[in-house]
Amino acid sequence: MRCDTETLATRPLREEGAFAYWQQDIPREYWDLSGAELVERVRLARRKLGERLIVLGHHYQREDIIQFADVRGDSFKLAQWAAQHPETEYIVFCGVHFMAESADILTTPDQKVMLPNMAAGCSMADMADPDDVLACWDELEEMGLASETVPITYVNSAAALKAFCGRRGGIVCTSTNAAAVLRWAFEQKRRALFFPDQHLGRNTGLKLDVGLEEMALWDYRRPYGGLGGNTPEQLERSRVILWKGHCSVHQRFSVEQIERARREHPGIRVVVHPECRMEVVQAADCDGSTEFIVRQVTDSPPGSKWAVGTEINLVHRLAVENPDKLVFCLDPVVCPCSTMYRVHPAYLCWVVEQLADGRVVNQVMVDEETARYAKVALDRMLAVK
Ligand code: 13P
Ligand code: SF4
Repeated sequence: MRCDTETLATRPLREEGAFAYWQQDIPREYWDLSGAELVERVRLARRKLGERLIVLGHHYQREDIIQFADVRGDSFKLAQWAAQHPETEYIVFCGVHFMAESADILTTPDQKVMLPNMAAGCSMADMADPDDVLACWDELEEMGLASETVPITYVNSAAALKAFCGRRGGIVCTSTNAAAVLRWAFEQKRRALFFPDQHLGRNTGLKLDVGLEEMALWDYRRPYGGLGGNTPEQLERSRVILWKGHCSVHQRFSVEQIERARREHPGIRVVVHPECRMEVVQAADCDGSTEFIVRQVTDSPPGSKWAVGTEINLVHRLAVENPDKLVFCLDPVVCPCSTMYRVHPAYLCWVVEQLADGRVVNQVMVDEETARYAKVALDRMLAVK
């Protein structure tokens, strides 16, 4: 375990983060309620709270959660909403932990952000441990490369990593603005270190005409000093260093599935999330964030056919909400995001009923020091056009 000042500074957050992933048992009675009873009780509690409470819902949330969302969106839209609504006292964020953390950072100290189930994390975010990223940065420093590198963290990451970027002239990106953010980074320096998602980083680099030979892959499992599995020449030549992380949901999509969809449904259009592998994104007709996918399908004319490469709850909803179109998931073996799915109506009911009784539970709080620097990186992102 490395130990330097920044590691020490971020440790309280990481310990708090570990604590925050812990979800206390909720009273048994919630698990005994029927779906209809849960809906009724959430409605009742919400009525008591009125405009003091807003429920944000990420597009991957299940139907029995999304029905309560006042605002639905992708990571960018929900972060932007949080930054623009200082009047909202309570925000219940139906999504995953990093999203609620970003909302906490972007809101005022008086606002409270809650996550219905603290165990709703993101396996991709967990692939970038702040200690490992610091170790990588140290190795780049030893090679004299850090000073010419901008760190970019995908929003799917711990607040400590957003603070890491904020402290080093770096920035956050989402799948909505990754190209604009990478362009911004190249205006600052010649190279970017992009974590944790190698696929979003690679797909974005290619969109900006960065060649594959100019992208190095940093394997964080290599021991310190191993340059993440690269030669010094590869790193010196690189314009983007990609962290070797991925999303297990989006790894499931393949070029074969796209070919099959086109064979079976002539004229079909294929839209995928940029967390998919490069080959998949290149074979698709278009790619973009979950909000982009929603817009593509919704705005297409009746009779359109869509094969979609993203999480199944969103694809099902698109199919139901667009009955005049054919919409199906590229992967025939359904692929839910198991951590998004942890937000169950029983937890939501418990959180809002506690709130209605004047008790704040499951508050997501980023410590002041981390939040200050993380906000620098998030604000840079929100300012990039
Ligand atoms: P969006 O920002 O596109 O909503 O994506 C978030 C995510 O976790 C995709 O897997
Ligand atoms: Fe994380 Fe993948 Fe789930 Fe998105 S779909 S929250 S990247 S595990």
